[in-house]
Amino acid sequence: MQLWNTAERYGLVSKLLHWGIAALFFVQFVIGDLMDDDDPSQLGLHTSLGILLALLVLIRIPVSKLQTQPAYPPHMGPWECRLADLMKMALNLGLLLVAAFGYLAITTKGEAPLFFGVAMPVLIGENDMLHEFFKEGHELLAWLLLMLVGVHVAAALKHHFIDGDDVLRRMH
Ligand code: HEM
Repeated sequence: MQLWNTAERYGLVSKLLHWGIAALFFVQFVIGDLMDDDDPSQLGLHTSLGILLALLVLIRIPVSKLQTQPAYPPHMGPWECRLADLMKMALNLGLLLVAAFGYLAITTKGEAPLFFGVAMPVLIGENDMLHEFFKEGHELLAWLLLMLVGVHVAAALKHHFIDGDDVLRRMH
């Protein structure tokens, strides 16, 4: 299996990043929904995985930009290709935004976010009003991102089962 993308397929690096980030996203959603916010070990796990997820996205963006992108199938019109590009950008930005809001929700509570036990910088200090804003925003953005992921998955399945092209297969 080739390491880097070609005009036909995604390479191993893109696949590992894509499926690693996707798995972490779903795990984070479940933990975030079920956890007790007042339990430091549960919040610590959610924070650590969230920071890891953001770091992986920050690695994916340049790694993706520096590589060839597999070409879209010929049946896709220019506006569909544009929309697909916009969707990928929105998913990456959405992940970063959710993570940033979560991070700031912790610092505005007056705490340092812990990355697997290591204290991270407090960028904006204690502020009750901002804490409410970032906490509510984190939750709202996470749900919006989940809806966007739903559209993304539906599009991948449409390509596979209705259009019969290789868009889903080349990410496997
Ligand atoms: C079961 C879940 C998922 C499926 C079936 C799926 C499917 C796919 C497929 C087929 C592609 C390639 C599209 C193309 O060739 O143009 C792709 C790319 C992409 N997906 Fe997903 N995806 C899933 C989950 C996610 C999640 C949870 C995220 C982020 C929140 C995500 C973000 C992206 C991004 C950013 C790309 C572009 C990757 C790159 O340029 O290296 N996907 N996905």
